[in-house]
Amino acid sequence: MRNFVSQAALNLRPSGIRKYFDIAAAMEDVVTLGIGEPNFVTPDNVMRAGIASIEHGRTGYTANAGDIALRRAIAGYIERLYGLTYNPLTQVLVTVGVSEAFWLAMKAILDYGDEVLVVEPCFVANAAAVEMAGGVPVFVPTYVENAFQVTGKDLEARMTPRTKAILISYPSNPTGAILTREHMQQVANIAEKYDLVVISDEIYERLVYGVAHVNFATLPNMFERTIVLSGLSKSFAMTGWRIGYATAPEPILSAMKKLHQYLIMSAPTMGQYAAIEALDNGEEAVRAMHAEYDKRRRFIVDSFNELGLACFEPRGAFYAFPSIALTGMDDETFCDLLLREERVAVIPGGAFGASGRGFFRASYASSMQNIEKALERMGRFMQRHGFYHHAVTA
Ligand SMILES: Cc1ncc(COP(=O)(O)O)c(C=O)c1O
Repeated sequence: MRNFVSQAALNLRPSGIRKYFDIAAAMEDVVTLGIGEPNFVTPDNVMRAGIASIEHGRTGYTANAGDIALRRAIAGYIERLYGLTYNPLTQVLVTVGVSEAFWLAMKAILDYGDEVLVVEPCFVANAAAVEMAGGVPVFVPTYVENAFQVTGKDLEARMTPRTKAILISYPSNPTGAILTREHMQQVANIAEKYDLVVISDEIYERLVYGVAHVNFATLPNMFERTIVLSGLSKSFAMTGWRIGYATAPEPILSAMKKLHQYLIMSAPTMGQYAAIEALDNGEEAVRAMHAEYDKRRRFIVDSFNELGLACFEPRGAFYAFPSIALTGMDDETFCDLLLREERVAVIPGGAFGASGRGFFRASYASSMQNIEKALERMGRFMQRHGFYHHAVTA
Protein backbone atom coordinates (compact mmCIF):
# COMPACT_ATOMS: atom_id res chain seq x y z
CA MET A 1 0.00 0.00 0.00
CA ARG A 2 1.32 3.47 -0.76
CA ASN A 3 1.71 6.11 1.90
CA PHE A 4 -1.55 8.03 1.93
CA VAL A 5 -0.23 10.98 3.89
CA SER A 6 0.45 14.04 1.76
CA GLN A 7 3.90 15.51 1.40
CA ALA A 8 2.52 18.77 2.77
CA ALA A 9 1.37 17.06 5.98
CA LEU A 10 4.64 15.12 6.26
CA ASN A 11 6.61 18.33 5.86
CA LEU A 12 4.87 20.10 8.74
CA ARG A 13 7.14 20.16 11.76
CA PRO A 14 5.62 18.65 14.90
CA SER A 15 5.25 21.19 17.69
CA GLY A 16 8.32 21.27 19.93
CA ILE A 17 6.06 21.88 22.91
CA ARG A 18 4.15 18.63 22.61
CA LYS A 19 7.16 16.47 23.35
CA TYR A 20 7.58 17.94 26.84
CA PHE A 21 3.93 17.55 27.67
CA ASP A 22 4.08 13.92 26.58
CA ILE A 23 7.09 13.19 28.80
CA ALA A 24 5.59 15.13 31.71
CA ALA A 25 2.25 13.34 31.37
CA ALA A 26 3.97 10.00 31.89
CA MET A 27 5.62 11.16 35.15
CA GLU A 28 4.23 11.75 38.62
CA ASP A 29 4.43 14.89 40.73
CA VAL A 30 5.47 17.15 37.87
CA VAL A 31 5.20 20.90 38.43
CA THR A 32 4.54 22.48 35.09
CA LEU A 33 5.24 26.02 33.98
CA GLY A 34 4.85 24.77 30.46
CA ILE A 35 1.26 25.59 29.70
CA GLY A 36 0.27 28.75 27.88
CA GLU A 37 -3.24 29.14 29.16
CA PRO A 38 -4.78 30.93 32.12
CA ASN A 39 -5.14 28.89 35.30
CA PHE A 40 -8.30 30.90 36.01
CA VAL A 41 -11.78 29.62 35.32
CA THR A 42 -13.86 31.78 32.96
CA PRO A 43 -15.53 34.64 34.94
CA ASP A 44 -18.84 33.64 36.44
CA ASN A 45 -21.09 36.08 34.56
CA VAL A 46 -19.51 34.95 31.29
CA MET A 47 -20.05 31.28 32.06
CA ARG A 48 -23.65 32.00 32.97
CA ALA A 49 -24.22 33.77 29.65
CA GLY A 50 -22.95 30.69 27.82
CA ILE A 51 -25.17 28.39 29.86
CA ALA A 52 -28.18 30.70 29.38
CA SER A 53 -27.72 30.61 25.62
CA ILE A 54 -28.08 26.83 25.69
CA GLU A 55 -31.03 27.00 28.08
CA HIS A 56 -32.74 29.41 25.70
CA GLY A 57 -32.32 26.90 22.93
CA ARG A 58 -29.71 28.83 20.98
CA THR A 59 -28.09 25.68 19.75
CA GLY A 60 -28.03 26.26 15.99
CA TYR A 61 -25.52 27.96 13.70
CA THR A 62 -25.12 31.72 13.80
CA ALA A 63 -24.45 33.94 10.79
CA ASN A 64 -21.22 32.74 9.14
CA ALA A 65 -19.26 35.80 10.19
CA GLY A 66 -20.58 35.50 13.76
CA ASP A 67 -23.74 36.69 15.47
CA ILE A 68 -24.18 40.35 14.62
CA ALA A 69 -24.55 41.21 18.32
CA LEU A 70 -21.09 39.78 18.94
CA ARG A 71 -19.59 41.54 15.93
CA ARG A 72 -21.03 44.78 17.26
CA ALA A 73 -19.65 44.02 20.73
CA ILE A 74 -16.19 43.41 19.21
CA ALA A 75 -16.29 46.63 17.19
CA GLY A 76 -17.44 48.53 20.31
CA TYR A 77 -14.67 47.00 22.42
CA ILE A 78 -11.98 47.94 19.89
CA GLU A 79 -13.40 51.43 19.63
CA ARG A 80 -13.30 51.81 23.43
CA LEU A 81 -9.75 50.49 23.71
CA TYR A 82 -8.12 52.20 20.72
CA GLY A 83 -10.58 54.69 19.22
CA LEU A 84 -10.49 52.59 16.06
CA THR A 85 -13.68 52.10 14.06
CA TYR A 86 -14.46 48.83 12.25
CA ASN A 87 -17.73 48.18 10.49
CA PRO A 88 -19.21 45.11 12.24
CA LEU A 89 -20.94 44.04 9.03
CA THR A 90 -17.96 44.06 6.71
CA GLN A 91 -14.74 44.32 8.71
CA VAL A 92 -15.17 41.93 11.66
CA LEU A 93 -15.11 38.13 11.53
CA VAL A 94 -15.67 35.80 14.50
CA THR A 95 -13.37 32.75 14.31
CA VAL A 96 -12.62 29.55 16.18
CA GLY A 97 -9.84 31.18 18.16
CA VAL A 98 -6.90 33.02 16.71
CA SER A 99 -5.76 29.57 15.61
CA GLU A 100 -8.35 29.51 12.82
CA ALA A 101 -7.88 33.21 12.09
CA PHE A 102 -4.15 32.63 11.42
CA TRP A 103 -4.91 30.15 8.68
CA LEU A 104 -7.70 32.24 7.18
CA ALA A 105 -5.47 35.30 7.06
CA MET A 106 -2.70 33.40 5.32
CA LYS A 107 -4.97 31.60 2.89
CA ALA A 108 -6.72 34.87 2.04
CA ILE A 109 -3.53 36.68 1.03
CA LEU A 110 -1.02 34.08 -0.16
CA ASP A 111 -0.54 32.49 -3.52
CA TYR A 112 1.60 29.38 -3.72
CA GLY A 113 5.22 30.23 -2.94
CA ASP A 114 4.58 33.71 -1.54
CA GLU A 115 6.84 34.53 1.37
CA VAL A 116 5.86 35.77 4.81
CA LEU A 117 8.37 37.37 7.16
CA VAL A 118 7.72 35.56 10.43
CA VAL A 119 9.21 37.30 13.44
CA GLU A 120 10.61 34.78 15.89
CA PRO A 121 10.91 33.31 18.48
CA CYS A 122 7.16 32.93 18.06
CA PHE A 123 4.10 30.81 18.78
CA VAL A 124 4.53 27.35 17.25
CA ALA A 125 1.53 27.68 14.91
CA ASN A 126 2.79 30.80 13.11
CA ALA A 127 5.07 29.16 10.56
CA ALA A 128 2.72 26.18 10.20
CA ALA A 129 -0.17 28.51 9.26
CA VAL A 130 1.96 30.01 6.49
CA GLU A 131 2.96 26.56 5.21
CA MET A 132 -0.57 25.13 5.39
CA ALA A 133 -1.70 28.01 3.19
CA GLY A 134 0.99 27.21 0.60
CA GLY A 135 3.31 30.04 1.59
CA VAL A 136 6.94 30.05 2.67
CA PRO A 137 7.85 31.34 6.14
CA VAL A 138 11.03 33.42 6.19
CA PHE A 139 12.19 33.79 9.76
CA VAL A 140 13.31 37.09 11.17
CA PRO A 141 15.22 36.61 14.42
CA THR A 142 15.02 38.93 17.41
CA TYR A 143 17.51 39.25 20.25
CA VAL A 144 17.46 39.77 23.98
CA GLU A 145 19.86 42.72 23.56
CA ASN A 146 17.00 44.50 21.81
CA ALA A 147 14.33 43.17 24.20
CA PHE A 148 13.23 40.73 21.46
CA GLN A 149 11.85 43.54 19.32
CA VAL A 150 11.98 43.25 15.57
CA THR A 151 13.72 46.05 13.67
CA GLY A 152 13.05 47.49 10.23
CA LYS A 153 16.62 46.63 9.26
CA ASP A 154 16.20 42.94 10.08
CA LEU A 155 12.96 42.79 8.11
CA GLU A 156 14.45 44.59 5.13
CA ALA A 157 17.44 42.23 5.02
CA ARG A 158 15.07 39.34 4.23
CA MET A 159 12.94 40.96 1.56
CA THR A 160 12.67 39.19 -1.80
CA PRO A 161 10.39 39.80 -4.78
CA ARG A 162 8.09 37.09 -3.33
CA THR A 163 7.62 38.76 0.05
CA LYS A 164 3.92 39.41 0.59
CA ALA A 165 3.41 39.90 4.30
CA ILE A 166 4.89 40.40 7.75
CA LEU A 167 3.59 38.40 10.70
CA ILE A 168 4.15 39.94 14.11
CA SER A 169 2.89 38.74 17.49
CA TYR A 170 3.31 41.25 20.31
CA PRO A 171 2.98 40.93 23.29
CA SER A 172 5.01 37.87 22.49
CA ASN A 173 4.61 34.22 23.23
CA PRO A 174 7.24 32.99 24.21
CA THR A 175 9.37 35.99 25.23
CA GLY A 176 6.85 38.29 26.92
CA ALA A 177 8.31 41.14 24.86
CA ILE A 178 6.22 44.06 23.71
CA LEU A 179 6.91 46.20 20.64
CA THR A 180 7.35 49.90 21.35
CA ARG A 181 5.57 52.37 19.12
CA GLU A 182 8.92 53.36 17.66
CA HIS A 183 9.66 49.77 16.61
CA MET A 184 6.12 49.37 15.32
CA GLN A 185 6.71 52.38 13.14
CA GLN A 186 9.78 50.67 11.68
CA VAL A 187 7.60 47.70 10.73
CA ALA A 188 5.02 50.06 9.25
CA ASN A 189 7.67 51.83 7.20
CA ILE A 190 8.82 48.54 5.66
CA ALA A 191 5.21 47.49 4.98
CA GLU A 192 4.60 50.72 3.14
CA LYS A 193 7.89 50.79 1.27
CA TYR A 194 7.47 47.24 -0.07
CA ASP A 195 3.66 47.24 -0.24
CA LEU A 196 3.11 44.38 2.22
CA VAL A 197 0.23 43.15 4.34
CA VAL A 198 0.82 43.10 8.10
CA ILE A 199 -0.78 40.36 10.15
CA SER A 200 -0.65 41.41 13.77
CA ASP A 201 -1.56 38.76 16.35
CA GLU A 202 -2.57 40.76 19.42
CA ILE A 203 -4.11 38.01 21.49
CA TYR A 204 -2.21 39.20 24.60
CA GLU A 205 -3.23 42.85 24.11
CA ARG A 206 -4.82 43.13 27.57
CA LEU A 207 -1.85 41.60 29.34
CA VAL A 208 0.69 44.41 29.33
CA TYR A 209 2.43 45.72 32.42
CA GLY A 210 3.25 49.38 32.95
CA VAL A 211 2.85 50.17 29.24
CA ALA A 212 -0.11 50.81 26.94
CA HIS A 213 -0.78 48.37 24.12
CA VAL A 214 -0.81 49.87 20.63
CA ASN A 215 -3.10 48.27 18.06
CA PHE A 216 -1.03 48.05 14.86
CA ALA A 217 -3.89 49.23 12.65
CA THR A 218 -3.90 52.60 14.47
CA LEU A 219 -0.51 53.53 13.00
CA PRO A 220 -0.66 56.09 10.18
CA ASN A 221 -1.63 54.48 6.85
CA MET A 222 -1.71 50.98 8.34
CA PHE A 223 -5.48 50.39 8.60
CA GLU A 224 -5.80 49.48 4.94
CA ARG A 225 -3.02 46.89 4.98
CA THR A 226 -3.38 45.32 8.43
CA ILE A 227 -5.19 42.22 9.63
CA VAL A 228 -5.42 42.26 13.41
CA LEU A 229 -6.10 38.93 15.11
CA SER A 230 -7.27 38.68 18.69
CA GLY A 231 -9.64 36.76 20.87
CA LEU A 232 -10.95 35.96 24.28
CA SER A 233 -8.83 32.93 25.16
CA LYS A 234 -6.16 34.71 27.20
CA SER A 235 -7.61 38.03 28.40
CA PHE A 236 -10.88 36.52 29.59
CA ALA A 237 -9.66 33.02 30.52
CA MET A 238 -11.79 31.46 27.80
CA THR A 239 -9.45 29.08 25.94
CA GLY A 240 -12.01 26.28 25.78
CA TRP A 241 -14.81 28.41 24.36
CA ARG A 242 -12.87 28.83 21.12
CA ILE A 243 -13.71 32.39 20.25
CA GLY A 244 -11.33 34.66 18.38
CA TYR A 245 -11.79 37.35 15.79
CA ALA A 246 -10.15 39.12 12.89
CA THR A 247 -10.52 42.75 11.93
CA ALA A 248 -9.36 43.88 8.50
CA PRO A 249 -10.27 46.10 5.58
CA GLU A 250 -13.23 44.81 3.62
CA PRO A 251 -11.54 43.16 0.60
CA ILE A 252 -9.33 41.00 2.82
CA LEU A 253 -12.01 40.32 5.38
CA SER A 254 -14.51 39.20 2.78
CA ALA A 255 -11.96 36.69 1.41
CA MET A 256 -11.40 35.38 4.94
CA LYS A 257 -15.14 35.15 5.46
CA LYS A 258 -15.53 33.00 2.36
CA LEU A 259 -12.83 30.60 3.55
CA HIS A 260 -14.31 30.53 7.06
CA GLN A 261 -17.75 29.71 5.71
CA TYR A 262 -16.51 26.63 3.86
CA LEU A 263 -14.16 25.53 6.62
CA ILE A 264 -16.17 26.14 9.80
CA MET A 265 -19.64 27.50 8.97
CA SER A 266 -19.76 29.50 12.20
CA ALA A 267 -17.85 29.64 15.49
CA PRO A 268 -19.41 27.83 18.51
CA THR A 269 -22.73 29.48 19.29
CA MET A 270 -22.61 29.23 23.09
CA GLY A 271 -19.08 30.61 23.00
CA GLN A 272 -20.31 33.58 21.01
CA TYR A 273 -22.97 34.44 23.58
CA ALA A 274 -20.48 34.10 26.39
CA ALA A 275 -18.12 36.38 24.45
CA ILE A 276 -20.73 39.15 24.20
CA GLU A 277 -21.04 39.14 27.98
CA ALA A 278 -17.25 39.10 28.39
CA LEU A 279 -16.68 42.07 26.09
CA ASP A 280 -19.56 44.09 27.49
CA ASN A 281 -19.22 43.26 31.19
CA GLY A 282 -15.87 41.56 31.73
CA GLU A 283 -13.58 44.45 32.59
CA GLU A 284 -13.50 43.85 36.32
CA ALA A 285 -12.45 40.24 35.83
CA VAL A 286 -9.79 41.24 33.29
CA ARG A 287 -8.33 43.72 35.76
CA ALA A 288 -8.35 41.22 38.63
CA MET A 289 -6.54 38.55 36.57
CA HIS A 290 -4.11 41.13 35.24
CA ALA A 291 -3.17 42.20 38.78
CA GLU A 292 -2.55 38.59 39.76
CA TYR A 293 -0.38 37.92 36.68
CA ASP A 294 1.61 41.06 37.38
CA LYS A 295 2.35 39.92 40.94
CA ARG A 296 3.56 36.54 39.70
CA ARG A 297 5.54 38.19 36.90
CA ARG A 298 7.59 40.25 39.33
CA PHE A 299 8.17 37.29 41.58
CA ILE A 300 9.24 34.87 38.86
CA VAL A 301 11.54 37.33 37.10
CA ASP A 302 13.27 38.32 40.36
CA SER A 303 13.63 34.67 41.34
CA PHE A 304 15.17 33.64 38.02
CA ASN A 305 17.64 36.49 38.21
CA GLU A 306 18.57 35.45 41.73
CA LEU A 307 19.26 31.93 40.50
CA GLY A 308 21.58 33.28 37.83
CA LEU A 309 19.08 32.60 35.07
CA ALA A 310 19.29 36.09 33.58
CA CYS A 311 15.78 37.16 32.72
CA PHE A 312 14.96 40.32 30.78
CA GLU A 313 11.82 42.04 32.00
CA PRO A 314 8.78 40.77 30.12
CA ARG A 315 6.25 43.58 29.73
CA GLY A 316 3.48 41.48 28.24
CA ALA A 317 1.64 38.14 28.05
CA PHE A 318 2.28 35.63 30.88
CA TYR A 319 5.70 34.23 30.05
CA ALA A 320 9.23 34.72 31.35
CA PHE A 321 12.10 33.84 29.03
CA PRO A 322 15.31 33.42 31.04
CA SER A 323 18.72 32.72 29.57
CA ILE A 324 20.59 29.56 30.53
CA ALA A 325 23.94 30.88 29.31
CA LEU A 326 25.35 30.46 32.83
CA THR A 327 24.85 26.70 32.73
CA GLY A 328 26.75 26.15 29.48
CA MET A 329 24.01 23.68 28.47
CA ASP A 330 21.86 23.89 25.40
CA ASP A 331 18.19 24.58 26.08
CA GLU A 332 16.96 21.07 25.24
CA THR A 333 19.47 19.43 27.57
CA PHE A 334 18.63 21.89 30.34
CA CYS A 335 14.87 21.30 30.04
CA ASP A 336 15.32 17.53 29.75
CA LEU A 337 17.50 17.33 32.86
CA LEU A 338 15.28 19.66 34.84
CA LEU A 339 12.26 17.55 34.03
CA ARG A 340 13.91 14.24 34.80
CA GLU A 341 15.81 15.31 37.92
CA GLU A 342 13.43 17.80 39.51
CA ARG A 343 10.15 17.18 37.73
CA VAL A 344 9.74 20.74 36.59
CA ALA A 345 8.40 21.25 33.07
CA VAL A 346 9.44 24.33 31.11
CA ILE A 347 9.82 24.63 27.35
CA PRO A 348 13.16 25.03 25.54
CA GLY A 349 13.33 28.36 23.72
CA GLY A 350 14.42 26.65 20.51
CA ALA A 351 10.91 25.17 20.19
CA PHE A 352 9.82 28.70 19.22
CA GLY A 353 12.51 29.32 16.61
CA ALA A 354 16.28 29.33 16.25
CA SER A 355 16.72 32.67 18.02
CA GLY A 356 15.05 31.19 21.10
CA ARG A 357 17.91 28.77 21.65
CA GLY A 358 19.75 29.28 24.91
CA PHE A 359 16.55 30.33 26.70
CA PHE A 360 13.52 28.60 28.13
CA ARG A 361 9.90 29.63 28.42
CA ALA A 362 8.25 29.56 31.83
CA SER A 363 4.57 30.40 31.98
CA TYR A 364 3.32 32.20 35.06
CA ALA A 365 -0.28 31.47 34.14
CA SER A 366 -0.04 29.02 37.00
CA SER A 367 -0.86 29.34 40.69
CA MET A 368 1.61 31.15 42.92
CA GLN A 369 1.93 27.96 44.92
CA ASN A 370 2.96 26.08 41.78
CA ILE A 371 5.40 28.78 40.77
CA GLU A 372 7.02 28.77 44.22
CA LYS A 373 7.34 25.01 44.17
CA ALA A 374 8.90 25.05 40.69
CA LEU A 375 11.39 27.72 41.70
CA GLU A 376 12.37 25.86 44.84
CA ARG A 377 13.09 22.78 42.76
CA MET A 378 14.97 24.82 40.19
CA GLY A 379 17.08 26.33 42.94
CA ARG A 380 17.97 22.82 44.08
CA PHE A 381 18.81 21.88 40.49
CA MET A 382 21.05 24.91 40.00
CA GLN A 383 22.80 24.23 43.29
CA ARG A 384 23.36 20.55 42.62
CA HIS A 385 24.97 21.33 39.28
CA GLY A 386 27.13 24.00 40.88
CA PHE A 387 25.53 26.93 39.05
CA TYR A 388 23.70 28.63 41.84
CA HIS A 389 26.82 28.94 43.97
CA HIS A 390 28.50 30.40 40.91
CA ALA A 391 25.68 32.90 40.47
CA VAL A 392 25.76 34.02 44.07
CA THR A 393 29.50 34.47 44.28
CA ALA A 394 29.98 35.89 40.77
C1 LIG B 1 0.60 34.13 20.38
C2 LIG B 1 -0.60 33.26 20.30
N1 LIG B 1 -1.45 33.42 19.28
C3 LIG B 1 -2.54 32.64 19.14
C4 LIG B 1 -2.82 31.63 20.04
C5 LIG B 1 -4.05 30.79 19.79
O1 LIG B 1 -5.07 31.11 20.64
P1 LIG B 1 -6.60 30.72 20.40
O2 LIG B 1 -6.70 29.85 19.21
O3 LIG B 1 -7.03 30.05 21.65
O4 LIG B 1 -7.30 32.04 20.18
C6 LIG B 1 -1.98 31.43 21.13
C7 LIG B 1 -2.23 30.34 22.11
O5 LIG B 1 -1.38 29.94 22.86
C8 LIG B 1 -0.84 32.27 21.26
O6 LIG B 1 0.01 32.13 22.29
